[in-house]
Formats: sequence, C-alpha cells, structure tokens
Amino acid sequence: MEYSYCGNSGLQLPKIALGLWHNFGFADDFSAATDMILYAFEQGVTHFDLANNYGPPPGSAESNFGEILRDNLASHRDEMIVSSKAGHLMWNGPYGDGSSRKYLMASIDRSLKRTGLEYFDIFYSHRYDAKTPLEETMQALVDIVRQGKALYVGLSKYPPAQAIIAMNYLADRDVPCLIFQDKYSMFNRRPEKEIFGIVEGFGSGFIAFSPLAQGMLTNKYLNGIPEHSRAADATGFLRRDQVRPDLIEKVIRLNFMASNRRQTMAEMALAWALRDHRVTSLIVGARNVEQLRDNLKALDNPLFSAEELAEIDRVLNGAEL
Ligand SMILES: NC(=O)c1ccc[n+]([C@@H]2O[C@H](COP(=O)([O-])OP(=O)(O)OC[C@H]3O[C@@H](n4cnc5c(N)ncnc54)[C@H](OP(=O)(O)O)[C@@H]3O)[C@@H](O)[C@H]2O)c1
Repeated sequence: MEYSYCGNSGLQLPKIALGLWHNFGFADDFSAATDMILYAFEQGVTHFDLANNYGPPPGSAESNFGEILRDNLASHRDEMIVSSKAGHLMWNGPYGDGSSRKYLMASIDRSLKRTGLEYFDIFYSHRYDAKTPLEETMQALVDIVRQGKALYVGLSKYPPAQAIIAMNYLADRDVPCLIFQDKYSMFNRRPEKEIFGIVEGFGSGFIAFSPLAQGMLTNKYLNGIPEHSRAADATGFLRRDQVRPDLIEKVIRLNFMASNRRQTMAEMALAWALRDHRVTSLIVGARNVEQLRDNLKALDNPLFSAEELAEIDRVLNGAEL
C-alpha cells in the first residue's frame, strides 16, 4: 500500500480507504463484512470510513465495525485511522438531524459507544446545514477535538463559499480542517473546478467518495442490472433509473481502454481518480473481498499518457451521474 501525507498535516493516509456505507449493516452478511475488514487491514488499508447513519439500520455499521475490531484487531488500534460523521437524519425530533452543536455532540458520543472506541481519528461535519450558523457547527468540531473525542476534523460536501468560511474558522482556532470529503469520479468532476483549489490553499487533503460512481464505473452493469448489485438492492442508494444507457455506452468504451491498459474498468477508474496530486486518497465501497482485491490493484498501474487522458475526456464529454 502507498500512503500520502494528508495536505500539510503529519498524517499519512493510504491511497485507498474502505468505506462502510453499504454492506456492513445488520441487514448484511456479517462474515463477508469481517472478511473485507480483515483483508483490507492485511493489505495496508489502514483507514476505515464510517458515519453515524451507515447501516441499514442506521448505526449498525458502527456497531458491526466495533465488534469486528474488538474480536480481531483490538491490539492494532494505533495502526488505524477510523473516521465518522454526523449531519444527516439519525434520530427523531429536532436534535437528530442537521448540524447543531446539540446534534453533533450527542451523535459523536453515540458513535463512540457503538464502536467501543475512545476517540475517532477524524470526525466530519457530514454536510452543510443552512439553518445552523456555520460558527456553531465549527465550534462544535473544535470542542470535539479539545475534549479528546477526535484527533482531527473534516468537512464533507460543503459548498465552496461555506467551505472557505468554515476552514478559516477552524484554522483561526488551531484545529485546521485536515481533510475535505466529496463525491469525485469520472462521472462527477465538479470538485476539480470547485474544491481542489480551495483545499490546496488551506493545506488540507481531499478524499473522494464513490470513486466508482457506486459501481457504475465497473464492468458490473455492462449487460443489464445483475441481481446482486446496488442498483437491484432495495436499500441501495443507486437507483435503477440511474443506470442510464448513455452512461453505460461510455463505460463500454472506457472498459475497452482499460483492457488495453491491462486493467479492469474499476482499476482504471480508481487510478484515474488518483491522478491529481491534490487527491490524497479514495474511499471505495465493496460487497466482497474479490471486489476489494480488484480495487487495490488500481495502484499497480497509476500512470496515464496525455493521449489516454484526452481520450477519457472525449469519451466522458461532461457526462454526470
Ligand atoms: N460523505 C458522504 O456524504 C459520503 C457519501 C457516500 C459515500 N461516502 C463514503 O464513501 C464510501 C464509498 O462510497 P461507495 O460505496 O458509493 O463507493 P464506490 O466505490 O463508488 O462504489 C462501491 C460499490 O461498487 C461496486 N464495486 C466496487 N468494487 C467493484 C469491483 N471491483 N467490481 C465491480 N463492482 C465493484 C460494489 O457494488 P455492488 O454492491 O453493486 O456490488 C460496491 O458496493 C462509502 O462507504 C462511505 O464511506 C461518503
């Protein structure tokens, strides 16, 4: 595994992290979840990305992760980076959603309890909440660090203007924004224009989520929607109607390029997402160890010629999922 420093910080992150959004909840196969976490760690994937609401049901990915950690990796806590977040709907009433201090403080305590951890390495504000003053959310992050509940803080999905205000607030209080997490893949290139420059200016790292566009940038949907897939799964966040023929036609062409590079489609999509020096790391999801093994192979062939990059741009032609 290769590691890179996260922005100007002293923290190194693996180029590929494992995300527990899908396939790690009580509704999923616990032994497959265990196998993936153990395989990842064996391969040097030291970073595991959680959020309070991952499941289903919400919270259960944190509980399962905690159990797997306790049973198998308890002595390795200092070799790991575990992140969690709060910001989306988690419990009923006015204090279980959004980004108020009340919600963030209660949520991190619940997340620590579920995972059995004493602290998170990175704690994120999961999204910008226009109804809460930005200063309130950021001060909650600062205090979370001061209380020892997280070592570093991050922001996820903040619009550029609010990201700048938030990052200034954090920097002024000596709790700099370690990392910015946003959707980034061949089918979502908005961060290139809107976020990479800001992140670099603040000396933060950038970590991409859904770098495979939830599986669309793999060979999975080339012949329709298979039974065991996120798009076919009732609780999956990829809807059937998002598997659009115009996008699949592009993946067919990209898949051909990938085979010329002796890569799978997934490997090429991940290598491509890492090509910019401002991208510290990618968070991949997986359903089984085979997918994860394939994804880690992306690091074996990371370089693209100028012609290949231009051809990818031509094929994508601004397509968005
Ligand atoms: N901050 C945020 O708001 C936010 C939002 C979303 C995600 N995230 C984070 O980012 C992580 C990754 O997101 P994601 O799961 O959408 O990432 P992704 O890597 O784009 O998609 C993962 C899915 O693609 C399919 N797949 C993966 N590798 C494959 C391979 N080699 N061959 C064929 N299919 C493959 C699997 O789907 P099938 O199940 O169909 O096999 C897998 O579940 C999440 O777990 C979470 O930690 C954060």
